[in-house]
Amino acid sequence: MANIIVVGAQWGDEGKGKLIDILAQDADYIVRYQGGNNAGHTVVVSDEEIILHLIPSGILHRGKKCIIGNGVVLDPQALLEEIDTLRLKGIEVDSNLLISDQAHLIFPYHKILDRIKESKGSFRIGTTGRGIGPCYVDKIARCGIRLADLLDTDVFKEKLKFNINEKNKLFKRLYKTKGVSFNSIFKQYIDFRNQISKYVSDTPRILNSAISSGKSLLFEGAQGTLLDIDFGTYPYVTSSNATAGGACTGTGISPTRIDRIIGVVKAYTTRVGEGPFPTQLPKALMNKIRDRGREFGATTGRPRKCGWFDVIIVKHSVLVNGLDEIAVMKLDVLDDLRDIKVCIGYEYKGKFFKNFPANIELLNKCKPVYKTFKGWFKDTANIKEYKKLPSEAKDYLKGLSDLVGAEINIISVGSNRSQTIYK
Ligand code: IMP
Repeated sequence: MANIIVVGAQWGDEGKGKLIDILAQDADYIVRYQGGNNAGHTVVVSDEEIILHLIPSGILHRGKKCIIGNGVVLDPQALLEEIDTLRLKGIEVDSNLLISDQAHLIFPYHKILDRIKESKGSFRIGTTGRGIGPCYVDKIARCGIRLADLLDTDVFKEKLKFNINEKNKLFKRLYKTKGVSFNSIFKQYIDFRNQISKYVSDTPRILNSAISSGKSLLFEGAQGTLLDIDFGTYPYVTSSNATAGGACTGTGISPTRIDRIIGVVKAYTTRVGEGPFPTQLPKALMNKIRDRGREFGATTGRPRKCGWFDVIIVKHSVLVNGLDEIAVMKLDVLDDLRDIKVCIGYEYKGKFFKNFPANIELLNKCKPVYKTFKGWFKDTANIKEYKKLPSEAKDYLKGLSDLVGAEINIISVGSNRSQTIYK
């Protein structure tokens, strides 16, 4: 089978978890390449909902190797909690999980910094508060601590001392708050190390030899293109490359070894946290879509803002990810709407924009220009074949495909694995 990247083409929460779970059946390795436990991938198996934050969803399939790549930032406490939850459900983790020794570690001071920054009104991003951004800051500033460092007690001690010393000065002098204790964090992380060292591996070597011996890899993107640090609605983004390129830098696999990239979209749009959202719905309709689509964050439980499908942002995703195809999730959520709008451009200061702008002011203040599709007003949740979809639903899908310039081969009409239509 091919090596496939699955990437979110909107602001995250597109339903990647379900798609990964389906594609994992044919993959040998399922690989996370960026982000951390800010992600929340929901999978429904036999009517039971399982939410994974760090471990690739492939773990739910017996015998699949699951890799946490070097591009991921790892909170060991969150990892151990997730492992425990999976074990309680009878899911085997130990023989299937491998973690890159180059992955950076999240420490309590990262979470504190995340919360302090979020409490400073003007730069509020609406983060998940998991310490993701501050951990990537240390990575880029070259003072981060990786799993390889944790395995060497002397190196770990020295690096942790340096970091805590620096952060405590920041906490006390700049933020006027109390610092953290070296001794307790050191002890706690040595204890974590004793529990997770068995998973730590040279994952780029393992993955490259797997490809050479004919195995197939499925790369599980987290968040989405519009939350990408380079291509998203900066600064209202996460701190990693959620786009397809991140799958290579976040795992040590060359772009030449990737065969297929699938973008995942919802049939409408959602977003959590702060930042521009041009197609946001008026309150009553937003509440209706939110309830039908159960649009509440899988990690923080926050209600997601809902909006019409935005062609401009998905076209941007098609471009920067090199997408030939998109999977459309949650089509059924639109089942009882008379009219369905799709944003085909932005109007700002008398000008029409049909491409994604870097200017955040424009995105904040623009007026979306809509094309209206006729609703199908029929239940699609039990439809298994494309040809059996109502003609208006097929028109809608064809319209989306033409407008964004990518094929639609997979359509989801419910959370169960079986509620999937392959065109
Ligand atoms: P952070 O990743 O916690 O730093 O949050 C930065 C932004 O990304 C915030 O707007 C979050 O709401 C958003 N975000 C992070 N992870 C996810 C996700 O898995 N789904 C949707 N939004 C996310």
